[in-house]
Amino acid sequence: MKDKATPISEIVAKLPIGQSVVVKGWVRTFRNNQFIALTDGSTIRTLQVVVDFENTPMELLKKITTGAAIGAKGKIVESQGRGQDVELKAEEVVVYGEADPEKYPLQPKRHSLEFLREIAHLRFRTNTFGAVFRVRHQLSFAIHRFFHERGFYYLHTPIITSSDAEGAGEMFRVTTLDLKDLPKNEDGNIDFKQDFFERETNLTVSGQLEAELAALALGKVYTFGPTFRAENSNTSRHLAEFWMIEPEVAFNDLDDNMDLAEAMLQYVIKDALEHCADDLAFLSDRLLEEEKNKPQDQRSEMSLIERLQFVVNNTFERLTYTEAIDVLMNSKPNKKKKFSYLIEKWGADLQSEHERYLVEKHFKKPVILTDYPKEIKAFYMRVNDDDKTVRAMDILFPGIGEIVGGSQREERLEILEKRMQEMDIPTEEMYWFLDTRRFGSCPHAGYGLGFERLVQFVTGMGNIRDVIAFPRFPGSANF
Ligand code: 4AD
Ligand code: MG
Repeated sequence: MKDKATPISEIVAKLPIGQSVVVKGWVRTFRNNQFIALTDGSTIRTLQVVVDFENTPMELLKKITTGAAIGAKGKIVESQGRGQDVELKAEEVVVYGEADPEKYPLQPKRHSLEFLREIAHLRFRTNTFGAVFRVRHQLSFAIHRFFHERGFYYLHTPIITSSDAEGAGEMFRVTTLDLKDLPKNEDGNIDFKQDFFERETNLTVSGQLEAELAALALGKVYTFGPTFRAENSNTSRHLAEFWMIEPEVAFNDLDDNMDLAEAMLQYVIKDALEHCADDLAFLSDRLLEEEKNKPQDQRSEMSLIERLQFVVNNTFERLTYTEAIDVLMNSKPNKKKKFSYLIEKWGADLQSEHERYLVEKHFKKPVILTDYPKEIKAFYMRVNDDDKTVRAMDILFPGIGEIVGGSQREERLEILEKRMQEMDIPTEEMYWFLDTRRFGSCPHAGYGLGFERLVQFVTGMGNIRDVIAFPRFPGSANF
């Protein structure tokens, strides 16, 4: 079929009754040798294509099965049936690719998300994943637009790096050395001089340090790229490969940083509500359906769409780590020993159960926690006058926990060097980072937004593995 196809999204929006159109897509269902429900990825809605079965050869009809790729040409008419305004009265149907019904893994019924993860190459064809990936696209464009409108430059930071930005040591190694025959030094250690880059290299855990260098020249930059963490966390909120957005702004302090992050989150969620109404309505219903299987007290009080509107329309609660510890120590689950990790004293690292208590039970809104103990945060965060806390901020979201982590950076050379020494971070090797503090240093701040956690929040998907096309996690790098 040579003619250009009209997207179904356009047909259901414009209802071009009487016009002749071509559509191309995949068969969702085919009833009574007559009614095809066709999807083409442009919208969650299907178009009903009515086949003139009396004048269509049996051979062709047999090939129109769930999953087959077809094209159809005909007139848009008002629909006789219920559930749609218009349908396509087909004059010609071609089958591009058959899908053997005996073998095609997707049936027009509800499949479990776990099953669909096993066939990640086909799960795009389902309503749920179609909706998730359209929303994901909208969010990523909204992020670029948000920063672009505010005069930020999009910076591409390296994926292969020799520095461990977070100092957490959870990196994937990059090498071309033959692992079965490693070159050795005289002292018996591996001779990385013979490796491709003549040094040890890894996949990046964050583009922040490079972004800081650019911010101290260009003013406002952001990155949006893949990051890799070899942490062995088999949770519904961790991936080994995920996408992170990292703005960095010269002359911003922590308050500016919080304002920027809050404005960004509200902007992109509002954008999705405006542009993905059909998909979000579907995902909202899907979540309601799923929550019916949960005990009453674990169901959310708001629907997905209400939750998104709530975040857009309410300011986030801002408090210090110290204040949060007070709330947690006096909380019911802590007193009744219901938390798996009890909060016994100031200095404790917060677990996701504590973050979720603060957001979901205590404040019932997104929370920004600031000024954490320096011992539990990265070396680059600005030390407060108390010498105990740093200008850190974590943004906590309902159902997700930490969605953003950031800070005002330590711009004072001596204090930064001292912190690095305390934390065993090699200052000589990091001369390129410290040079920004040597020459024209200034206050600056930034943060990292975990993109998949944002997509999870907006789509209501329970597992982070279901908001990325090909999830990588411990034990799995299929497709
Ligand atoms: O809090 P993190 O580790 O902060 C940084 O990497 C800083 N360099 C950011 C900055 O200040 N420029 O990570 C930032 C965010 C987290 O809040 C979380 O949303 C997400 O990245 N994240 C992950 N998402 C999925 N899987 C993982 N394993 C993640 N680890 C962090
Ligand atoms: Mg963090």
